[in-house]
Amino acid sequence: MKQEICSLNGNLLPLAEAKVAADDGGLLYGDGIFETMRIYRGRVFRLEEHLQRLEEGAAHLSLPVPDLGVLHNSVEKVIAANNLTEGSMRLTLTGGSNRRALWPRSLNTEATILITVRKTSVYPEQLYLQGCRAVVVSFPRNEASPLVRIKSLNYLENMLGKKEALQQDCLEGLFLNTRGELTEGTTSNLFLFDGKTLLTPPIECGLLPGITRATVIELACKKMGIPVQETMLNKGDFKRAAEAFLTASIMEIMPLVTVDGNNIADGNPGPVSKALLAEYQKAIGDLCQ
Ligand SMILES: Cc1ncc(COP(=O)(O)O)c(C=O)c1O
Repeated sequence: MKQEICSLNGNLLPLAEAKVAADDGGLLYGDGIFETMRIYRGRVFRLEEHLQRLEEGAAHLSLPVPDLGVLHNSVEKVIAANNLTEGSMRLTLTGGSNRRALWPRSLNTEATILITVRKTSVYPEQLYLQGCRAVVVSFPRNEASPLVRIKSLNYLENMLGKKEALQQDCLEGLFLNTRGELTEGTTSNLFLFDGKTLLTPPIECGLLPGITRATVIELACKKMGIPVQETMLNKGDFKRAAEAFLTASIMEIMPLVTVDGNNIADGNPGPVSKALLAEYQKAIGDLCQ
C-alpha cells in the first residue's frame, strides 16, 4: 500500500516520519483544537466552515491563529499528495512547545499544525438502512464548560461515552447536561422530528456547533420547507418523537432508531431522515461539481 502523506507545519512528508516535539502542549496539556472533515471527489466538503470554526476555537483558547489561506493551500496539497478522492481529513492545531506551568505558554513558540487523511472512514451502508442504536451516557456533560462548544484536544469524556456505547452494542453515546437536558452524541449532533418540526438542542445546552448540524438546518428550512426549532429536549421526548437522527461530517445523517433499548416510533428509519440524507447528498454533489 502506498504510504500516507501528511503535512506537518506546512511540510509534506510520510506520516510514519512525522514527529511532534515531546514538549508540545497538545501532548502535555491537551492544548489544542482539531477539525475532522469529509473528502468527496478530491474536495473537502464545507472547508470554509471548518476553517472558520477552527479559527474561532483558536481565538477562544488564545492559540496562534494560522493564516487560513495558507491552511487552505496545505489541505489541497495533502489531498493531491495522497491522490485522495474519497475519505476524511483531520487538521490538528496545538499551541506548540510549552515548558511552563500551563500559562502563559512558552515565549516565541510556534503553533504545531498537522494535517492527516484517511482513505476509509465510512459507516456501513446497512447501518443507514436499519438505523443505529444509542445509549444515554452515565455521566453528565457540563454545559457551563467553555470546552464543550469547541473541538478541543480534550476528548476523554467523548471517548468514555463511546466506550459505554460500544459496551452496550450501540453506535453512539448521548450526553445529558447537568440539568438533564439532551445535548449531543460523543461525535455527533442530535435531531428529533415530532411529525411537523425538526427539533435540536440549542448550543447553550452544551454542545459543539456542528457543521453538518448547520447544513441540515439550512437544507430543512430552505430546500424542504420543514420548520426547525432549537429547543431544550429530554429523554422523554424520544417517546413522543416520530423520528430521530444524528449528524456529523463523517457520518452525514444517520437514522437513530433505538435509545436505551427503547424504539423510537416503530424502530425504523423515517421518511424525513431519508429525505434529508438525499438532500444532503445532493448538496455534496453540487459542491463537488
Ligand atoms: C462532540 C461532537 N459533536 C458534534 C459533532 C459533529 O460535528 P460536525 O458536523 O462539524 O462534524 C462532532 C464531530 O466530530 C463531535 O465530535
